[in-house]
Amino acid sequence: MTHRTIVAPHIVIAVDGPAAAGKGTLSRRLADHYGLRHLDTGLTYRATARALAERGLPLDDEDVAARIAAELDLSDLDRSVLSAHEIGEAASKVAVMPKVRKALVEAQRSFALVPPGAVLDGRDIGTVVCPDALVKFYVTASPETRARRRHDEILGNGGNADLAEILADIERRDARDTGRTDSPLRPASDAHLLDTTEMGIEAAFEAARNLVDTALER
Ligand code: DC
Repeated sequence: MTHRTIVAPHIVIAVDGPAAAGKGTLSRRLADHYGLRHLDTGLTYRATARALAERGLPLDDEDVAARIAAELDLSDLDRSVLSAHEIGEAASKVAVMPKVRKALVEAQRSFALVPPGAVLDGRDIGTVVCPDALVKFYVTASPETRARRRHDEILGNGGNADLAEILADIERRDARDTGRTDSPLRPASDAHLLDTTEMGIEAAFEAARNLVDTALER
């Protein structure tokens, strides 16, 4: 009797886009649906910034920051701690350092290589981290929509926030992410654009699922 071994395909899905566009929700939904692991790569930049601050190390010494980045444990990224606003600000500063990016990209690629594959979300997944991903998405929404979503989320969690301040912050973050020299935020040439301004995140998930299913059939 002959046995046929069915080997599940190794799937990598890249999800990029600016802050608060809905990448995280979309990525978690896709990971759940396809039984893949999920990595929010923004947390790796945030964890590097936090580890520097915790140890009383400077934020602007590239070699020190790169050493800390290389020691990160990706299985121990606590979103509830790392999502703090000040950590996001500090993260966007270490994210401009090429040596930090190199160390984190290496760790992110190792994560993507573990079977059965993964959904990675960030700013440079389709362009730099996983250029051979099966499917790439670039998720965006107008700055006003993203600010409103973030505002609603903070109020929903019982917090307090000023919409105009959030919008200014999002615009500042966009400028830093798109303007840096190393791996700036931009869609990969083969990325599918998903603008969640009008369609909403649920419709974006349905569209993304159809595109992944089509890619898997090929
Ligand atoms: O998505 P986030 O707010 O958690 O990201 C924090 C910072 O890290 C943000 O300024 C962009 C940066 N980042 C990056 O440069 N590359 C990634 N792949 C992910 C995040």
